[in-house]
Amino acid sequence: TRREYHRFADVLIIGAGIAGIRAALEIPSDLQVLLITKDKLRESNSSYAQGGIAGVLSPEDTFENHIDDTLVAGAGLCDPAIVEMVIREAPQQIADLVKFGTIFDRENGELALTREGGHSHRRIVHALGDATGWEVMRALIERAKAAPNIELLDGTFTLDLLTKENECLGALVYKEPMGKVMIWARQVILASGGCGMVYRETTNPPVATGDGMAAAYRAGAKLQDMEFMQFHPTVLYVAGSARHLISEAVRGEGAYLRDVNGERFMLKDDPRAELAPRDIVSQAIFRCMERTQHPNVYLDLSHLDPAMTHKRFPGIAKVCKTFGLDITKDRIPVRPGAHYMIGGIVVDETGRTSVRNLWAAGEVTSSGLHGANRLASNSLIEGLVYGSLCAHGAVRAVREGGVLNSVAAFKFEIEPYAKQWLDIDDMTNSLRSLMVRKMGIVRSKERMTEARQDVDFWCRYALVKQFDTQKGWELQNLLTVARAMIDSALKRTESRGTHFRSDFPTSSDHWKTHLVCPDIQDLFG
Ligand code: SIN
Repeated sequence: TRREYHRFADVLIIGAGIAGIRAALEIPSDLQVLLITKDKLRESNSSYAQGGIAGVLSPEDTFENHIDDTLVAGAGLCDPAIVEMVIREAPQQIADLVKFGTIFDRENGELALTREGGHSHRRIVHALGDATGWEVMRALIERAKAAPNIELLDGTFTLDLLTKENECLGALVYKEPMGKVMIWARQVILASGGCGMVYRETTNPPVATGDGMAAAYRAGAKLQDMEFMQFHPTVLYVAGSARHLISEAVRGEGAYLRDVNGERFMLKDDPRAELAPRDIVSQAIFRCMERTQHPNVYLDLSHLDPAMTHKRFPGIAKVCKTFGLDITKDRIPVRPGAHYMIGGIVVDETGRTSVRNLWAAGEVTSSGLHGANRLASNSLIEGLVYGSLCAHGAVRAVREGGVLNSVAAFKFEIEPYAKQWLDIDDMTNSLRSLMVRKMGIVRSKERMTEARQDVDFWCRYALVKQFDTQKGWELQNLLTVARAMIDSALKRTESRGTHFRSDFPTSSDHWKTHLVCPDIQDLFG
């Protein structure tokens, strides 16, 4: 006989990146927190963040400068009130990280600050040279493990949010060896990150499959800005490499971009040259690769002090060395790759979604901070600020008498699919290649329409089936997110921020607005 498993929590948090763990740490000890993640606790985009965390910490800098830089990068789509709120919170959040045990790099006892594209001042704290996320997440996870009211559950895949009449009651999850488990919670915080895996070339780890965005969408939450996928300009491009990120801080410390003939092509493209915002640099690299008919461009650090290079970028030096490249001498082959999903679940200034009792924080959301293009190193700070805000909101709601609902009559009647009917890996790879070819850095109606036809066709047979493996559920989520992205990108008949169309190459005031995705039933007809 089949057993039904149920779990209960005051607050369920989905996702163990910076936003999820920060939220957990903000919840008072009399409330029971269950934090779940589908992989190991360490596997999140936050852990792989290199550059750092932006905040106004130097006496030469001001909040106004950081706000202006964020608004300029965001190309008219930032919400100025949200930008100001997050940026003013940043120094305190960084101080809290130090209190939680994060060891940031220092110079003469003070926090060392670096620069990245689009920043007018040095304001980015970093750790272990170029492994900021690793150190920050180490400290946060240790702290969460030590908290008696927080239970951390890894290897737990969220299949769907449990909802009733636009109210979130918890989540249906899959966990070995039990199988399907229902988690009932008074409040739910979704902090499950992005969807870089929708592209073949990405800086993201394999876990970034848009599960939270797709689950929230299925549950009726509003999604917006899905046309804005940010491409990082410099991803290591050598055969056999797992597409490593080469931090923008490398350019922040003075590295040059050169084409295959050795020319510094950014000088002609933008007065800020290598330190222009990343949409501009990525698009310039794309044009350069077309012009030179070469599959990549190069980062050149050979004019920088080798001792500084090794001290600041030990991780990048190590990865490049594996491929026989000495970053103090050799040029590093790079090309852009999908990096950060700017769009996502719509949240208000407290982290509340359009579904009752459901909160969301970090990359899974569209908060209004990033506009049409995210300023480098503004995402970990968003996760920290919104993680805290969601926790405050969820705690308030629990105190106000949020009830613990459980609907015992649920049935797990799943018809298993015939195992051989679909090669899931093949289909996932096809989708990821299609997105690079037809929904990449330079888009057009023609190419996107072809992409939509293919994705629609695949959705027709892959979304209606019941899979029983994680890869199958991830494929369904990737398809859902990809379809929403293509739909939005086709509708936005202009170029703005990360969304560049060769058939509409300029921005239009008409489009200084957000595109909310149609309800999921309407999207899939
Ligand atoms: C980087 O180190 O270049 C990534 C920073 C970011 O994406 O914010």
